[in-house]
Amino acid sequence: MYQIISFIKFLFRSTNQHGVHSPFVYGLVTRCFYDKRTYPSYELISRYRRTLLKNTSSIEVEDFGAGSRVFRSSQRRISDIARTAGISKKRARLLNRLVRYLRIENALELGTSLGIGSVAMAAENNVRVTTLEGCAATAEVARENFNAFGFERIVLKVGEFKELLYDPDILGSSYDLIYFDGNHQKQASIDYFEKLLPLSHNDSVFIFDDIHWSPEMTEAWEYIKAHPSVKVSIDTFFWGLVFFRKEQEKQHFVIRA
Ligand SMILES: C[S@@+](CC[C@H](N)C(=O)[O-])C[C@H]1O[C@@H](n2cnc3c(N)ncnc32)[C@H](O)[C@@H]1O
Repeated sequence: MYQIISFIKFLFRSTNQHGVHSPFVYGLVTRCFYDKRTYPSYELISRYRRTLLKNTSSIEVEDFGAGSRVFRSSQRRISDIARTAGISKKRARLLNRLVRYLRIENALELGTSLGIGSVAMAAENNVRVTTLEGCAATAEVARENFNAFGFERIVLKVGEFKELLYDPDILGSSYDLIYFDGNHQKQASIDYFEKLLPLSHNDSVFIFDDIHWSPEMTEAWEYIKAHPSVKVSIDTFFWGLVFFRKEQEKQHFVIRA
């Protein structure tokens, strides 16, 4: 219900490229968000997804709850995980275009699951993707498939975020893009944002998944938007994107992507 009300509010507040006066955001919206061309990478992402959807074997999955503790362990089919936890086709294509349009060379993903998001970033793009996953069995399936598809520039690290993010040997020194898609809790989202802020640079983008999933996630998004280091924020309903461009005045956009 919260998501339906949020979506109706979003529809009233949102716009397309008209009325966007920032040349940077106008270019992003018209040349990337609304780019209707078909890229060869789309077929590669679809093939990767189809391989997982056809896989009916089961694995023992660890679910991460509040505070990042494992609260449940259960047998799940790989095809079901791909269907429910994996990034949607539309978001995968947008992520793929964003990496290309913004010329991302170094990306970090919190929450690999079966790797569809990692592949969406890496497909036909000149990018190194570091991706973090807490569930060992899920990560193993992702690793096997990255290898089978030849994604040599996807580096998968297994462990809880709160450990991996504090390990200097795991993280690089800076990222052009960070995709937060692991823990949809208010405090965890804020903590990871603040922890990873020093790894951003002037042209980095941070993408937060499901910012209107719950009232708490919207609060986390409001906090992130208001942060002094954030200059441009874009609410596309399913994602919140933030940019740090010091040359730009602080401005918020609500855009149908
Ligand atoms: C929504 S799925 C990621 C989907 C993936 N990014 C994609 O685009 O297909 C979230 C993943 O984050 C992992 N996760 C959640 N909380 C975590 C934590 N605290 N530490 C490590 N992994 C975590 C879960 O095990 C799950 O596989």
